[in-house]
Amino acid sequence: MWELGSTSSRATSLNFVVLLCFAVGVELNIELDIPPPLPAEHSIYVDKDQLVDLGNGKQLTVDDIVIGMEFLFERRVLYDKQRWKGMIMEQNPLDAFAIQHFLYKTKPDVLIEFGTNTGGAAVFYAELMTAYNPASHVITIDPFDRVARSHTGYVPEVLASSSPLWGTVVRPIVGIPTWRNISSMVRRLLKEFNASNVFIIEDGRHRRHSVLSNLLMYHDLVKPCGWILVQDTRLDRTLHRAGEGPYAAVKEFLTLAPYYRVRRDFEYYLFTNNPMGWLQKVLPYHDCSAL
Ligand SMILES: *[C@@H]1O[C@H](CO)[C@@H](O)[C@H](O)[C@H]1NC(C)=O
Ligand SMILES: *[C@@H]1O[C@H](CO)[C@@H](O)[C@H](O)[C@H]1NC(C)=O
Repeated sequence: MWELGSTSSRATSLNFVVLLCFAVGVELNIELDIPPPLPAEHSIYVDKDQLVDLGNGKQLTVDDIVIGMEFLFERRVLYDKQRWKGMIMEQNPLDAFAIQHFLYKTKPDVLIEFGTNTGGAAVFYAELMTAYNPASHVITIDPFDRVARSHTGYVPEVLASSSPLWGTVVRPIVGIPTWRNISSMVRRLLKEFNASNVFIIEDGRHRRHSVLSNLLMYHDLVKPCGWILVQDTRLDRTLHRAGEGPYAAVKEFLTLAPYYRVRRDFEYYLFTNNPMGWLQKVLPYHDCSAL
């Protein structure tokens, strides 16, 4: 059993289990021994208190159901199961579909993703975006090149780098987003792409400090009424607890950049890894209510 709040020991033991299973050729079907999530007063899900009558004498709240699924998602390592055309994507499918809906609605020209991992999600976004704008791009940044092996140790069946979009539409950058050279590389690319509608997905280290630093360094690139999605705000109630995760970063960012608003239009599936994670830049005298 990993200790409360000890991410690295959990990650290390998960890596160990995954590598061990590969070594002995076992189909992965592991369950992690993780502590239960923080109780309902920490819930940030939409409609969290609504009662659901199951017709068998039981009534559960929306929070009971959603956090229960969230717990299973973590315990059964379900985030490692999803594939996009054989590529590892690590995206809750309901969120992936909501993001697809968002991309079609708002049609960003450029998506900047912090946290490439194996790159499957970047290819997924790029395929959707080039369908409405062939000149669109995805800039994806990660401290490590993990295309051939995911951060949890998986070797993808299909490499994201084998996509024809990789290196053309998708521009992978290996480095720390807050490094000056990386930031200026991103800004150079945006000039080259003549981008006006930039959408940012923060899906990197999922730690308060790192998420907040990335948001502060890059949010000027978002136009009025534009959007940022901070992923895995759920982690403040499970893995990171005690305000050290992405949701803590969102709260702090909103006090430092108070013209951003949380919008919950894309949390309609209720089960999401990103509750309170969709932020829109609403400057004075801009009506940003339409999607
Ligand atoms: C960016 O700068 C850091 C040192 O500040 C260096 O280690 C790294 O290799 C540079 N990366 C790129 C892509 O230029
Ligand atoms: C860049 O985009 C703007 C609209 O956002 C357009 O007016 C301009 O012509 C474009 N410039 C080039 C060189 O494509």
